[in-house]
This record gives sequence, C-alpha cells and structure tokens, in this order.
Amino acid sequence: MNAPASKPHGTAPESALAEVDRSGGLRVESLHAAYGRLEVLHGVSLTVAPGEIVAAVGANGAGKSTLLRTVSGLLRATSGTVTLGGTDVTALGAERIAAQGLAHVPENRLVFPSLTVEDNLALGGWTRRRDGGYAVRRTAALELFPRLRDRIALPAGALSGGEQQMLAMARALMAEPKVIILDEPSLGLAPKVVGEIVAALAALRDDRGLAVLLVEQNVRAAFLVADRVVVMDRGRVVAHGSPAELARDDRVRRAYLGGGTASSSALLEVVDEGARPRGGTTQQEEA
Ligand SMILES: Nc1ncnc2c1ncn2[C@@H]1O[C@H](COP(=O)(O)OP(=O)(O)OP(=O)(O)O)[C@@H](O)[C@H]1O
Ligand SMILES: [Mg+2]
Repeated sequence: MNAPASKPHGTAPESALAEVDRSGGLRVESLHAAYGRLEVLHGVSLTVAPGEIVAAVGANGAGKSTLLRTVSGLLRATSGTVTLGGTDVTALGAERIAAQGLAHVPENRLVFPSLTVEDNLALGGWTRRRDGGYAVRRTAALELFPRLRDRIALPAGALSGGEQQMLAMARALMAEPKVIILDEPSLGLAPKVVGEIVAALAALRDDRGLAVLLVEQNVRAAFLVADRVVVMDRGRVVAHGSPAELARDDRVRRAYLGGGTASSSALLEVVDEGARPRGGTTQQEEA
C-alpha cells in the first residue's frame, strides 16, 4: 500500500521494509551526503521493491543526482544507510555495490563515443565476464531496444540522443542488476523517444522484476510510469505517494510540481490514463 501523500518521508511501514529486504529491493535510510563541507542530502529515506518503479522528482539542485551518486557509491554517505536485499552497502565503493546487483545509469548517458555499440555492451558486461552467459544477457538487452541491434557496429557517438540513452540502459543491463537507478533518462529527448524509454522502464519492472529508481525533471513522464513518487526539495523528501495521490494534492502540486507540463490537469490526465505507459501517450509533452 502507498503511504499518505503528505507524509514528509519516503519510507514504508516496518513490515514493508522487511519485505523489501527479503525480496532484494533497495532501502535508503536517513541518508546524508556532502560535497566537502557542504551537506546537500539531509536525511533521505525511501524504498524500492522488486517490480516497482519509484520516481524522485524535484527542482534543480534538490539533490536528486546526489542521491543516486550516494546510493551507487560514487559519493560516500556521511551518515545513514543504503541496503540492497538487506545487505548494508553504504561503506562499499561503486564497483562492489555494482557487483551486489545495482546499476547506475548516470545523467548525460556517458557512452563511449568512439567505441561501437557492441563494445559498449561488452564493457557493461565486464563485471560478469567470469560468469558466462554473455550471449544471453546481450540478447536480453537488445530485445528491449531493437534499434540498437540494427546499429550494433556503429560507433556510439553516431547514435541519436535517444539511442545513446537506450545504449546506456542496455549497457547497465549487461551486468544483470536487480536494482537499476537512472538519472533523467528523458533529458533532451523528443516525446516519442521519451515514450520508448518509459515503455522500456515499465518492461524492466513488469517483465524482469527489477527495482527501478528513476530521477526525473519530466514530471509527466515520471507520473506516467511510476508506482510511487518521492518529491525532493533542498536535500529532503518533502512528499511521497502514488502519482494519483500527489497529482490531487494541491499543496504538493503548487509548491513543488507547478508549471509547464506538470499543471494540474495535465498530471491528472496522466494518472487517470492508469499510470501505465502505452504507445503515444506522451505525445503532448514538451521535448
Ligand atoms: N560536484 C559537486 N560539488 C559541489 N556541489 C555540488 C556538486 N554536485 C552538486 N552539487 C550541489 O549539490 C546540490 C544538489 O545537486 P544535485 O546535482 O544533486 O541536484 P539535482 O536535483 O540533481 O539537480 P538537477 O535537476 O539540476 O540535475 C546543488 O546545490 C549543487 O550545486
Ligand atoms: Mg541532477
């Protein structure tokens, strides 16, 4: 069950927390992080269960990217915990956290532009090179993004922005993660491509049972696909709930989701569509 929208905290009840641990999900508790002496995360808590998409939305500088960096071990937490399937990974480095089953798709895609699509995928599978099954993982990654199969021998730098985003996601999947965290995958993409990315996220949740933590400024895309949303402001979770709950919460909408595509009617339209992506449902979005 979803918690009330106005509760200023992103966690579920105790029983649900235990279930997240048992089932292999992600649990973030009272996470603090800083750049030098400047603290920018002031105690963020949230959970993401397998088969669930949680979206973190919020204004520029709210700490969304910092949250993802701290979860994936690129930035060391100053306090609080990150657990994956009940294992405390807070003190581990990024490589070891990745080996525990977490994949981070950072902002701006960061594919290797001079390497081919194939070689980018191979690098994504590097941590699993001793496990065998490379061909199976490659097939699974390409099934999600058939466009990449047609471009497998091209340098990644020749791909469109949307295709590079798909490659960044496919590369992350080559490590066969249980939890995937993505930083603004829709950034700068045309509405149709945003729809494809959103559909791929839904497939990762529904068909592969991944726990997905999605950071988005595109509130409309986030509300379309997420099961739960946490709203961040200045390093804190200030509201959380289902997309429908938050879209109907005037206080939250005015204070944190206002303007542009996140207008009341637009958001309600999205959640009333059933909060599930279907082809073409993001047509009216701004690119
Ligand atoms: N490398 C850094 N060094 C110092 N301060 C940083 C660094 N990266 C981010 N910050 C600061 O931390 C705060 C949170 O930044 P963060 O990038 O996490 O926000 P965000 O929610 O991802 O924003 P955006 O929507 O613009 O991507 C901001 O005040 C930012 O200036
Ligand atoms: Mg960011």
